[in-house]
Amino acid sequence: MRTQAGERLEVLIPAQDIQARVEHLGKRITLDYEDKELVLIAILKGSFVFVADLARAIDVPLSVDFMAVSSYGMSTKSSGVVRIIKDLDYSLDGKHVLVVEDIVDTGLTLNYIYGHVKSRGAMSVKICSLLDKVSRRQVAVPVHYKGFEIPDEFVVGYGLDVEERYRNLPDVCRVVRS
Ligand code: IMP
Repeated sequence: MRTQAGERLEVLIPAQDIQARVEHLGKRITLDYEDKELVLIAILKGSFVFVADLARAIDVPLSVDFMAVSSYGMSTKSSGVVRIIKDLDYSLDGKHVLVVEDIVDTGLTLNYIYGHVKSRGAMSVKICSLLDKVSRRQVAVPVHYKGFEIPDEFVVGYGLDVEERYRNLPDVCRVVRS
């Protein structure tokens, strides 16, 4: 793909590995939620590609809702200050919720979302994240379903961006700046 001047992309996780892992997660989630009413809550924008593939890999009836949050600013560092830009459309009363996130870095964003969703009357709340930068964690959040643990590098693709670019890459890539 065409890149910004002074920027190069290196594939970290190829598309076929992502697809295989998503299929595996879908099978595990299908078994765990066999007789339950499942709601996937996708955190925009980064998880829009992941949730589309994950939802189709899960073989139980489910509904999908979206939350959009933002850390202040366009920085590549999480500020820990989370703002809700779009809240949930539906009540979670009596539902089993799976929060679908693209990546957990410091954990600050997900920690806030987890608390927010738990306060909305769900029977259970679990977290599924495609990527996990474990070494960067500042607050403990339970990631019940995890795609890949990755090193402390900034990555893009498969929904993830840098300043809104590269979300449409099929692979997860590291951004190398020269
Ligand atoms: P946390 O609050 O530090 O865990 O940050 C989580 C959010 O930061 C994610 O939902 C992403 O939007 C963004 N983020 C963290 N690391 C990356 C990355 O490597 N690439 C793209 N976005 C990232």
